[in-house]
Amino acid sequence: MDRGISLSIYCHSSLVFLLLISHLLPCAHLSPIAITNHHEIQLQTYIVHVQEPTSTTKLSIEHLQEWHKSFLPNASLDSGEPRIIFSYHHAISGFAAKLTRQELLFMSSKDGFILAHTDNPTFLFTTYTPDFLALKHWGALWPESSHGQGIIIAVIDTGIHPNHPSFDDKGMPEPPIKWRGRCDLPPPATCNNKLVAATAFKGRLKPSPVDNSGHGTVTASISAGSFVHGAEVLGKANGAASGTAPKAHLAIYKAYYNNHGTESDLLAAIDQAIADGVDILSMSIGQEPKPLYESSVAKASFSGIRKNIFPCCAAGNFGPVASILSNDAPWCLTVGAGTVDRRIRATVRLGNGMEMDGESSYQTETFDSKLMLPLVFPGETGKPEELHCQSGSLRSSIVSGKIVLCVTDEYDNLERSETVKTAGGAAMIVMNRLADGYTTNADPHSIPASHVSHADGQKIQAYIRTTLNPAATIIFQGTQFGARPTPAVASFSSRGPSFNNGGILKPDVVAPGVNILAAWPTEVGPKKQGKSGSSFNFASGTSMATPHVSGIAAMLKKLKPEWSPAAIKSAIMTTAYVRDRHGNAITDQNGGGNASFFAMGAGHVNPAKASDPGLVYDLQWQDYIPYLCGLGYTNDQVMAVTKDITDCSNIKKINAEELNYPSIAMNLRTGESKTIIRMVTNVGEASSKYKLQIEEPNGVSIHVNPETLQFSRLQQVESFTVKFSAKPGPSKKGEVSEGSLTWISGCYIVRSSISISFT
Ligand SMILES: *[C@@H]1O[C@H](CO)[C@@H](O)[C@H](O)[C@H]1NC(C)=O
Ligand SMILES: *[C@@H]1O[C@H](CO)[C@@H](O)[C@H](O)[C@H]1NC(C)=O
Repeated sequence: MDRGISLSIYCHSSLVFLLLISHLLPCAHLSPIAITNHHEIQLQTYIVHVQEPTSTTKLSIEHLQEWHKSFLPNASLDSGEPRIIFSYHHAISGFAAKLTRQELLFMSSKDGFILAHTDNPTFLFTTYTPDFLALKHWGALWPESSHGQGIIIAVIDTGIHPNHPSFDDKGMPEPPIKWRGRCDLPPPATCNNKLVAATAFKGRLKPSPVDNSGHGTVTASISAGSFVHGAEVLGKANGAASGTAPKAHLAIYKAYYNNHGTESDLLAAIDQAIADGVDILSMSIGQEPKPLYESSVAKASFSGIRKNIFPCCAAGNFGPVASILSNDAPWCLTVGAGTVDRRIRATVRLGNGMEMDGESSYQTETFDSKLMLPLVFPGETGKPEELHCQSGSLRSSIVSGKIVLCVTDEYDNLERSETVKTAGGAAMIVMNRLADGYTTNADPHSIPASHVSHADGQKIQAYIRTTLNPAATIIFQGTQFGARPTPAVASFSSRGPSFNNGGILKPDVVAPGVNILAAWPTEVGPKKQGKSGSSFNFASGTSMATPHVSGIAAMLKKLKPEWSPAAIKSAIMTTAYVRDRHGNAITDQNGGGNASFFAMGAGHVNPAKASDPGLVYDLQWQDYIPYLCGLGYTNDQVMAVTKDITDCSNIKKINAEELNYPSIAMNLRTGESKTIIRMVTNVGEASSKYKLQIEEPNGVSIHVNPETLQFSRLQQVESFTVKFSAKPGPSKKGEVSEGSLTWISGCYIVRSSISISFT
């Protein structure tokens, strides 16, 4: 029997999802972190922000630690353990230390103290396991940018499996001379010109940076894995594998252990990455939504952009619920997940001849697809355990020898097929819940199985209800290309609107994140190791979408070394496409209708166009300060992000929609008007003229002045005003209306998504 490969990470983020949702929804019985009296005497790790020590010369690490220690009641705990866990040099101005709440209160009155919060958990953004890499479609960016040669991508993740062929350094040049990264791989493993650093951060411990989860190996290989020819994944699926920027260097910073991480370790990892001199921060990680001054990714990324480092972040897998979105700072590129056109087909055929296409990476040749098996739906009883085929819920007398219909929940599908197998079931059809929509996974099941959409599952249920002796079989058809519609936004991909960034449209873009073929460490834990022990596999999540965009950013950085992080981001956003391969609006796998901008932002990344956007909406790090003040932050909260002493009362605050962002989102009341100014920098042809094209959102009229932009040189900056007027009439409160603003010159199309929320 030919079995797929099992994976060791699958249900983790789904569990996290559950926990987060129960935190965030009003019906939840779990209360958000409550500090009760008995906690007050307990030691906790806090992230403490303090002013940077005033000094004309750059402080040594020792001096910095002394400064940080000066905030503590004393240097060590009763146990003798030092209080300070990390003194941060770059990521933030501050430290992580063990304190009681009383001690923290006392500390907060000291001069130079800014703010503190508890060291919260951070997560990886993989869903389950599901497809592929459409690099051939990615056009001219590859050769032009020398595949990202000389650019260093920092992967903040679960570490690396160093011996994988994706990290072979054949043909790789040495890292640039500025490079200072360290290699802590245990011998005989070593770093090379592909893997230029590997370190791990876990409190005061010094663990090995080797990946024992698979997540970090997958994300690193997607961003900059070397070319591997004949990457065999499944009996019926193989091909060449490569990262997005195959000539870029990878610097590995491990901060996750058994798929769990903390902010203190995460900050230490990014601190080191900035110190080492990386160019891109690839972060397939994050937290539940938080204000920017409490988000470690947001704060450390800000330090990154001050040093011209490009932060690329996962939006999270909290979809399709609205407004639960990670990493929504405007200086981060926030990436959602889309599908690709590859499916690992497992077609369900019903007794009445109806067929529906599902997926499975268990592709057997011994299963007799001509033999119709009796079809049962244990969930008919209405019991949730049986509906979801949860462990121990199925009775052999009901399922033995049959094909069993199960419904997804927040746990993994592999668990489900295992339950069916244990109860004697012959095969499984797993259908999506409503919320999972059309997103299906090619999971390495242990019995013949097929994962179908919610819509198809409903047809199967209807068939069972109306048929005396329902029967079905599964036909395994291996890897197929050309799935329609492609791309579509994955149901799990996190959606806006963000409640924490003043309403800036997030995610920024979507990129391939469903069933992505990537390097997989063979030694790591397939729970049920398949026969092939293959070193490539499928994975899904915004975790997989993010390193694609990190790789694109690496190639842009190589091509345009003078561009700011905001310019790179603008190039990726304004060239993104909003029509799928068949010319239709990009759809959302949640429901199958048109994807909203809250699901796909500016659209799907288009690497072939991103290197030559014509115009960019640029921003320097200082430009975010009026925005942060405009969010209503206190001076301390702004300082926690920027590290600089700030007095918002002396700063002309701006609203979020006034930031020179490549997309536009704002609230409007019926009859209300707002005018914003945008500035574009010419990075296309020196002498060029751009004409305006406006697609007005329903219920809004837009006036742009001027309507043509004339450039005579490169780097020339031109500004224009955009006046939005909500048409009079009955209130549209709660409705959202979408449009676009596009500058067109010859072959340049510079598009901004517009999203108007009526209030
Ligand atoms: C440090 O301070 C704490 C609280 O102020 C105290 O309980 C502890 O004994 C001190 N430890 C040392 C080693 O002085
Ligand atoms: C989806 O988008 C297409 C193309 O923009 C449009 O013609 C169609 O009306 C939209 N469908 C819905 C239901 O809004």
